Parts: sequence; structure tokens; C-alpha cells
Amino acid sequence: MLSSTLLVHLLGLFALTTNALASSPLVLVYYATAGYYHDSIPTGLRVLGEQGPLYGISFDFTEDKTQFRPEILTKYDAVLFFDNTDQVLDETGEAALKAYFEEGGNFVGIHAASSCEWDDRRFSLAIGALFDYHPTLQNVTYVNLDSNFPATKYLPTKFRYEEEAYHFQSDPRENGAVVVLALDPDSFYNDGTSSGNYSGGGHPLPAAWYNESPLSAKPLAQGAPVSGRSFYTALGHSNRTWESPWYQGHVMEGIKWVLDGNSTLAYGVGLVGNPIGTATASSSGASVSSTQFSARDAGALVATSSTSASTGTNTDTSTSTGTSYSSAATSSSAAMGKSAVLGGAGAGIIGTVLAGIVAGVGLAW
Ligand SMILES: *[C@@H]1O[C@H](CO)[C@@H](O)[C@H](O)[C@H]1NC(C)=O
Ligand SMILES: *[C@@H]1O[C@H](CO)[C@@H](O)[C@H](O)[C@H]1NC(C)=O
Ligand SMILES: *[C@@H]1O[C@H](CO)[C@@H](O)[C@H](O)[C@H]1NC(C)=O
Ligand SMILES: *[C@@H]1O[C@H](CO)[C@@H](O)[C@H](O)[C@H]1NC(C)=O
Repeated sequence: MLSSTLLVHLLGLFALTTNALASSPLVLVYYATAGYYHDSIPTGLRVLGEQGPLYGISFDFTEDKTQFRPEILTKYDAVLFFDNTDQVLDETGEAALKAYFEEGGNFVGIHAASSCEWDDRRFSLAIGALFDYHPTLQNVTYVNLDSNFPATKYLPTKFRYEEEAYHFQSDPRENGAVVVLALDPDSFYNDGTSSGNYSGGGHPLPAAWYNESPLSAKPLAQGAPVSGRSFYTALGHSNRTWESPWYQGHVMEGIKWVLDGNSTLAYGVGLVGNPIGTATASSSGASVSSTQFSARDAGALVATSSTSASTGTNTDTSTSTGTSYSSAATSSSAAMGKSAVLGGAGAGIIGTVLAGIVAGVGLAW
């Protein structure tokens, strides 16, 4: 095991060695709920804490709505809403978040984050669309619409997985979002019922999307270089999903893409974020063991070429060869630096940064 203190030092050294970031982007993970509570939340928090250091990203975790105050939000490069339900901010918090978006702050939403803050217009513009309903948990087929986008580039063109097939009240594309992962509507039994008279998520049915310039940032505050980015994924219901390397890569690459819009202080610009020169890691407390890496080698998804797998069983499937995650040990020759993380198909998306650290300081574990 590597102590978190040592890891902090290694990350700092890594940043210097590569002339990449001089401070880690700092992300506030907010998991307060006022309605349904997902029992996979602790798993998700643990996974984020473990993954953060591998991507040079630091997380603070909170359920405390009073963290949504201007003087506190200002130190974050992104806010990440995770499985929140119903009203989770007070009025002061909603105003602080609105100002944060206008100052170039970034946004990430995961799974049930689309089912909170129903009446908060800025929030719904940031996330892109609000949850409507989902059919019974079952195997569904996802279609990868963008094999260039970091969060989906390592996923098969089509794959089947047990998840909640989220349906949305509106089409995130109406807010300028680009849908990167879609649901095959013929791949599941839709026993769900819409909760209102909504126009729906549009076609193809959206499951994950990004927005380079969400309307939640407008009007941009004076001095903000560019609006913050937004990324949302509807996937992430169960522990099993969170434990899956492909999903961990999906989420972390989405977070990293959001931060890499260069709108915040960790990137040397902007009004909000972790300023260059400040200490890197915060409260993730993560440590990384070698067993964690060897588990990634098993991260195969079930890909499918069929568009009409109608029931829960996975017939007509084959194990994907498109999704391979190399371990730290096998990717230790990977080039160092930020670009390596988003490198070509041959490079593992996870462990590459850490491999860079290992190579840079001549350590291995
Ligand atoms: C998911 O994991 C958490 C611990 O992280 C556990 O408390 C919960 O019971 C698990 N849920 C299921 C459905 O197994
Ligand atoms: C989904 O498919 C997997 C793999 O075939 C299977 O183990 C699981 O039971 C299925 N889930 C449901 C809800 O049918
Ligand atoms: C539902 O919305 C459509 C389109 O906006 C409208 O024409 C229709 O009257 C609405 N139905 C109900 C029951 O409100
Ligand atoms: C962010 O900055 C890096 C380093 O200067 C640059 O390579 C990258 O293209 C920038 N990204 C955007 C979206 O401008």
C-alpha cells in the first residue's frame, strides 16, 4: 500500500516533471439526498476516492448543503452531483451555484443527480435534462454514439448491461448537449410510466452527454475566460456498475474532460478553482494497491451486435475485444503526461497517469 501522504508528494512531483498541472483540479462531490437514497452511494464515493489520484484529480465529499456558499464553492474546479434526489440545496445554495456557473465553474452529474432540484432552472440547464422515469432494472443495450469522446471512446459500439434505463423529461440536445451514449429502445421491456406530460428525451434516447457551453453559465461573469463544461451519465445504479472498470473509466474520463476545458484556476485561468501553487490532494484519502490494478484486466463488457435483444438474457453476444484496460504494471512504458491519459487505443485509460508517476520516480509496487 502506498500512503496517501506519499501519493500526494508523487502527484506533485509528477506535475512538475511533466510541466502539466501545477495544482490538482479540486472537485466537490455532493451526495445529499432528500428523497430516494441509493445504497451504492458509499461504493461510488470509495471508487471516486480511489480513482482520483490516478487522474491527478482531488475530491472533497460532502452531504452538507451549507458548502454551497460563494466563499466555499470558489475553491473548486468542478462540482459533481451524485445520486441526489429532490430538494438538496437551500435558496442561498442555489444562488451560489448559479454564480459559480457564471464564473466558469464546471459541472458533472451522475445517475440520480438528474432527479433533484426540480424547480431550479439553472440546475436543469447545467445537467441538461431532468429524470422522468425508468422501467424495471434489467439488461439493456447501450449504443456508443461517439467513439472519439473520452468517456465513451473505450466502450464497444453496442453493449448490454444491467442498468436502469433512464427516461428524461426533455431532450438535453435542446440545451446544446451532445449525446454520446444512447439506449436502444427495442432492447428492454418498458413497464415504466411517465410522471407527467413531457416531450421526452428525444432520439436516440439519451443516456450520457456532454455540453461544451451549457446555458447555465450565461451570462458569463466579467473575467471568466470561458464557460465551464458539463458532463452527465445516467448509468451508475448499482454497486456492480461502480465496481466495473469500464464504468470507472467512463466516469473519470467524463470528469477529466469537463476539467480540461481550461476554465478554472487549476489550469491557471479563471475566477474559481484550486489556484496553482496550493497543495494538491485534499480529502480523498485514497491509497492504491496493486491488487486494484490487476482487477482491471478483467474489465470486459458484453458487446452485442443485435439491436433487438428483447428480454433479459444475453443471447447473440460476444465478449468485447474493444475494451481493454491495461494494469499499471503493463502500461509502465506509457508516455508520461496529460496526453497519455487520453492516448490512443493501445493505451490503458486507467493507470496510465500512475504508471507515469512510477516511471518518473523509479518506484514500483
Ligand atoms: C452496495 O454496497 C454497499 C457498501 O458499499 C452496501 O451497504 C449495500 O448493501 C450494497 N448494495 C447491494 C444491493 O448489495
Ligand atoms: C443480465 O444479464 C446477466 C448476464 O447474462 C445476468 O446474470 C443477469 O441476471 C441479467 N439481469 C437481469 C435483471 O435479468
Ligand atoms: C400534453 O402536451 C401536449 C403537447 O404540449 C398537449 O398538446 C396536450 O394537450 C397535453 N396533454 C395533457 C393531458 O396535458
Ligand atoms: C487546455 O490547455 C491545454 C494546454 O495548454 C491545451 O493543450 C488544450 O487544448 C486546452 N483545451 C482547450 C479546450 O482549450
